[in-house]
Amino acid sequence: MILSPHISLAVPAHARDIAEMSREYIEYGLGWSWTQARVLKAIHDPSTNVAVVREQDALLGFGIMRYGERRAHLVLLGVHLDHRKRGLGALLLAWLEKCAVTAGLEHIQVEARADNEAALAFYQDQGYRRQGIVPGYYRGMIDAIKLEKALFRARPANA
Ligand SMILES: CC(C)(COP(=O)(O)OP(=O)(O)OC[C@H]1O[C@@H](n2cnc3c(N)ncnc32)[C@H](O)[C@@H]1OP(=O)(O)O)[C@@H](O)C(=O)NCCC(=O)NCCS
Repeated sequence: MILSPHISLAVPAHARDIAEMSREYIEYGLGWSWTQARVLKAIHDPSTNVAVVREQDALLGFGIMRYGERRAHLVLLGVHLDHRKRGLGALLLAWLEKCAVTAGLEHIQVEARADNEAALAFYQDQGYRRQGIVPGYYRGMIDAIKLEKALFRARPANA
């Protein structure tokens, strides 16, 4: 049987796994700010999408995007270590981006740790362009690279 990964909105039962992936894959060396309670709050926040990618019952990755008036902010994105380079990160991001396009937003912003070469390569592959460096963005210890992607909306024919 061929299994294909499935993306959906997270439910409260996913919050613990998401929080643990954030601690392990994203917040290492910085303390743990995306606790289970904070992820739960994001799941219930109407202006935030918490998406998960699953195969059978296994949670393989997640992404959190907050949608504003004109811009969206990709807050967190992580794929299980054993399932990277299968296209799951790109799949999750495309799903979250589609919501931003549907909402008519103009840009998506994201920050990545300056020491996270894999993430920087990934975001650039997904069409995000470097905007600058924020020194000490992560708890005064690690710089952030700010990246942004412009979303192009189809104009009405008579515009
Ligand atoms: C960044 C991350 C989400 C990418 O997820 P992924 O599922 O492995 O990425 P994909 O398989 O969709 O990769 C798509 C493209 O991104 C680029 N890319 C992904 N991982 C890369 C790496 N380690 N090094 C270089 N390029 C990479 C490649 O161009 C890749 O295309 P290819 O497979 O045809 O070469 C994953 O590495 C991860 O979870 N890292 C830890 C958490 C993290 O850093 N999150 C981002 C900051 S919040």
